[in-house]
Amino acid sequence: MTEAADLLDPAERLDVEGLRALQLERLRSSLRHAYDNVPFYRESFDKAGVHPDDCRSLSDLARFPFTTKADLRENYPYGMFAVPRERIRRLHASSGTTGLPTVVGYTEGDLSMWADMVARSIRAAGGRPGDTAHVAYGYGLFTGGLGAHYGAERLGCTVIPASGGMTSRQVRLIQDLKPSIIMVTPSYMLTLLDEFERQGVDPRGTSLRVGIFGAEPWTERMRQEIEERFAIDAVDIYGLSEVIGPGVAQECVETKDGLHIWEDHFFPEVVDPVTGEVLRDGERGELVFTSLTKEAMPIVRYRTRDLTRLLPGTARVFRRMEKITGRSDDMVILRGVNLFPTQIEEIVLRTPGVAPHFQLRLTREGRLDCLTVRAEARPDADPAAREAAARSIGAAVKDGIGVSVGVEIVDPETLERSVGKIRRIVDLREPRG
Ligand code: DLL
Repeated sequence: MTEAADLLDPAERLDVEGLRALQLERLRSSLRHAYDNVPFYRESFDKAGVHPDDCRSLSDLARFPFTTKADLRENYPYGMFAVPRERIRRLHASSGTTGLPTVVGYTEGDLSMWADMVARSIRAAGGRPGDTAHVAYGYGLFTGGLGAHYGAERLGCTVIPASGGMTSRQVRLIQDLKPSIIMVTPSYMLTLLDEFERQGVDPRGTSLRVGIFGAEPWTERMRQEIEERFAIDAVDIYGLSEVIGPGVAQECVETKDGLHIWEDHFFPEVVDPVTGEVLRDGERGELVFTSLTKEAMPIVRYRTRDLTRLLPGTARVFRRMEKITGRSDDMVILRGVNLFPTQIEEIVLRTPGVAPHFQLRLTREGRLDCLTVRAEARPDADPAAREAAARSIGAAVKDGIGVSVGVEIVDPETLERSVGKIRRIVDLREPRG
């Protein structure tokens, strides 16, 4: 462990046996809390023929039923809450990018635990009390802004609650207020990069030292791009509203080798997305979470649809999750081949002549689905360089992923810029009849 032990929380100093014992004790009481107070869980456990008392070891969790987004929607808005509404101090709603929103609630205790987890995350990213943190995640029903905000305050940082948008003002604030930390989606960081350049300000010359990026998938290539262009350390933060918000898992700056899951509060499993069978650590599948300490809205075996694998701890005792490849709902199946936007990101970002901005357009020609990668030319790319970039992207997709796609190199500044979570796929296919 490279970090001074006295900076760590007591749970971060446990050994594996101590951690597993704590998890089991918390898991048993969390299952009981869900069963006793949420009719949905009582029914689903009864239907599956399991009772909280059946959980005698961590592996017994596999006997309990999954919870899905559809279950949360069916219980909209307050049906999943385990405490009276009067004890709820805050509501958030998931972004709803894949359907109707779902509402989540927090007691005072939940808000405090959440702030602790984000504080722990910022510290793992290299932040310290006394740092100034510029928060450009959106504030509001989205958990990014307020989640980052209270975590940074809890750590003892000065917070700049910039929220998303008003990009030219963000650049001004960063120059004037001199934050050392920025918390923002990676795609919006690229929008900020354009704005620095437009204003003639050197992005490598700012006070920023660390960027904590999440809320959407991003690749190692994107990390390199951001680190080089801004001269900062770029680390990954993960979370989802249904579990708590940001601060479920965080990459440590000293290793940058995947995200440590804060397993003392959120118990992870990886399952086969089709059969639901629990996979061994190291095997890729769908990430599933069970909350261990949440009061307002305990969550049991929640299917995130995020695809990753679990790896042993390194910089911390907690297991890591590999950087997320994508969500199962973002997977494009093109003539039998599975493709994720992150695979295209890797390719576009290593191609000379194109900027790190791209979009995937899905169309149907006859009975065939077609994908066009639209990438933006760098301002200095001449027609020959654009032509070469298009050929190189097409060949890399064909060789690396095994499918033919169209490639269109568009003029600089023409693709839509992100102010929060970016939408990579534009689906122009008619719904199947
Ligand atoms: O995006 C919470 C968050 C805010 C995380 C700020 C990190 C930073 P939701 O809007 O509920 O919550 O969306 C959750 O976003 O299931 C993933 O698909 C995706 N996601 C979040 N973090 C990452 C990440 C917030 N680091 C959904 N890498 C999740 C890849 C991520 N995908």
